[in-house]
Amino acid sequence: MLENLAAQPADALLALIKLHNADPREDKIDLGVGVYRTSDGATPVFKAIKAAEAKLLADQDSKAYLGPEGDMGFVHALIPYVFGADFDTSKVEGMQAPGGTGAVRLALEVAKRAGVKRVWMGTPSWPNHAQIVNAIGLELKTFKHMAADGTADLEALKTALNEAEAGDLVMLHGCCHNPTGVDYTPAQWDEIAPLLAAKGVLPLVDLAYQGLGEGMEADAYGLRTVLKAVPEALVAYSCDKNFGLYRDRVGAFYVVTSDGDALARAMANGSAIARASWSMPPDHGAAAVRLILADAELTAMWLAELDEMRDRMRWVRDRLSAAQQVGPIPMDPLGTQNGLFSMLPLSSEQILAIRERHGVYMAGTGRINIAGLTTGNIEKFIEALADVATA
Ligand code: LMR
Repeated sequence: MLENLAAQPADALLALIKLHNADPREDKIDLGVGVYRTSDGATPVFKAIKAAEAKLLADQDSKAYLGPEGDMGFVHALIPYVFGADFDTSKVEGMQAPGGTGAVRLALEVAKRAGVKRVWMGTPSWPNHAQIVNAIGLELKTFKHMAADGTADLEALKTALNEAEAGDLVMLHGCCHNPTGVDYTPAQWDEIAPLLAAKGVLPLVDLAYQGLGEGMEADAYGLRTVLKAVPEALVAYSCDKNFGLYRDRVGAFYVVTSDGDALARAMANGSAIARASWSMPPDHGAAAVRLILADAELTAMWLAELDEMRDRMRWVRDRLSAAQQVGPIPMDPLGTQNGLFSMLPLSSEQILAIRERHGVYMAGTGRINIAGLTTGNIEKFIEALADVATA
């Protein structure tokens, strides 16, 4: 029976982790999978998380099941950060999900049950977006995310919306676009929000990097602007990056609508999908986030750690942008992009060459995780880039 299975290519991004680990060169540079790194190249556990985990260890008195919706204290504690302190909480409900991936999956599955057939998405996008859309059996329609001048292509989104039909879903990255780092500007979001509303499409905003771009509030501008305009929307949220909880898989799926009945049904469908998929999400990381957000001192500690991450990434971006031009590659745009990622216009031969000749690991699309660059390796990276880009 099992011989009938089709062969599957390995996930290219995850395969890169293994390739990098197997490389014996001491000066290799990992710009692959999206994890934050300090100036020492480490991905430490946040101090605030460590403190919350210590509390959890001391105080948690049961590990009995919570239910398919997970830790609702965690889900509700995030609401003011995601939606704003003054958001009408009667319009939103959520449930915990296993990471941002689980949240996107839940959102798209619920959308499909609600009758959505087509998903519009700017490309390039995080490869798992298309994989999830395909796995669920929804039709994927794409438009260009980035214009030739390196800014977000609002015209392409407008053209897509012209073609879209009411009831289609439009998936948007809330901030720190993965893989380009190119976000819609606040002025562009101001234009996008009423267009989404006028067309009657269902927005799904994927907010996986809040706080890693301009700050917790600024990074939510797009989402909050959309929510002011549309009657209903879905949100996929991840704490994997902004709390550094990657392997603990901490995410949330939110539904926003003022129709209380529809809100309850959406959550009931989400719970049924979770039950048939993973039954209940893992508890540990979400419980740690809940403890942080319930404690002013831990919250301040977490936010300070997030500020530090953002400042370091800004330093890397400033240094890359100061290189101005590496061979034919303009480096200036990297300075104004946001979050962990940017894309370099390299051919697959050049991406292979920089890996083989210089031990620089980046995704096959030319995406780099800028947090992989440090004072110790950034000059080597720029030289390696010049070597392959001008060859
Ligand atoms: C990435 O894009 O590198 C991260 O979102 C990790 C992942 O799961 O792909």
